[in-house]
Amino acid sequence: MSTRIYARIAGTGSYLPPTALTNNDLVARGIDTSDEWIVERTGIRSRHIAADGQVTSDLALEASRKAIAAAGIEADKIDLIILATSTPDYIFPGTACLLQSKLGVNGAAAFDVQAVCSGFVYALTVAEKFIRSGSHRCALVVGAEVFSHILDWNDRNTCVLFGDGAGAVILEASDAPGVLASALHADGSQHGILEVPGNICGGRVVGDPFVKMDGPAVFKFAVKVLADVAREALDQAGMDAAGIDWLIPHQANVRIIQSTAKKLGLPMEKVVVTLDRHGNTSAASIPLALDAAARDGRIRRGDTLMLEGVGGGFTWGAVLLKF
Ligand code: UT7
Repeated sequence: MSTRIYARIAGTGSYLPPTALTNNDLVARGIDTSDEWIVERTGIRSRHIAADGQVTSDLALEASRKAIAAAGIEADKIDLIILATSTPDYIFPGTACLLQSKLGVNGAAAFDVQAVCSGFVYALTVAEKFIRSGSHRCALVVGAEVFSHILDWNDRNTCVLFGDGAGAVILEASDAPGVLASALHADGSQHGILEVPGNICGGRVVGDPFVKMDGPAVFKFAVKVLADVAREALDQAGMDAAGIDWLIPHQANVRIIQSTAKKLGLPMEKVVVTLDRHGNTSAASIPLALDAAARDGRIRRGDTLMLEGVGGGFTWGAVLLKF
């Protein structure tokens, strides 16, 4: 009788570029906002901004090296690299391939996933299915973004919300439970509420290269789908929310996080919140929060984690796992 192959997180890593901009720094730069407004409406106090010339694969490299070290493996053991980003280094090749080159290895399958702020849960789910199928045994799954490159610093509706960063995990084949359940969804008809509606044609940007967001519409959508998709993953695993040790949600707005936790009946003591330090880092936010809580000892081996994200597309998803 064949036993199920699980995909289990063997190590985590994250990286924030050194330059931090507080809310008051944004005010000092002439943005028509205030620390009070940003903290009260979002919970964000600071965000990190990549240095000139520092690109997504550079941030991904730092986070990946830490995850590889935490897993106690050599990079050449990795046979699959999946990198979630909406801010790739190039149109092509994929940032996953550029990361592979910077890691100094070759041969592993490497590709990008584009699901905006849901990118990490999409990438983790894809990696889990590769591992579960038996085709691959050791995946590097990364969420990395340089959102500062696609922000209009004159648009206070968006520029105060986002930041740059990267998070990574090593996901290995295991006999012991790791990923228990996952659920992914999208509603493309809602693409207009959060988008960067530009493209390259004839060597020029056509349309708008900056983030456009209908904040209240995104807020409403997020609150509904995050609770629903968490329940869907719990149902698949035959569990209820009381079995969750830690909720690790996409870090966009603390009010969305509080509302999701309340809908699931989870106290905020069981929720990892790191957005105060780094704002919304899109695909990087979940692995950044996961790594912070794994390293400070809150999350322990054997804990049951619910990771969930929501973002442009519109996309959303959840992964329930034993750490
Ligand atoms: O990662 C993908 C998921 N993204 C999200 O989850 C974002 C979801 N949306 C949100 O987090 C919130 O909708 C925001 C934080 C973006 C906005 O908060 P809100 O409570 O929905 O505010 P609002 O957009 O309804 O704007 C309220 C007021 C407006 O002024 P009036 O019309 O009431 O005079 C805005 O012009 O706040 C004003 N405003 C600001 N004021 C100071 C908007 N941005 C700012 C700002 N500083 N940065």
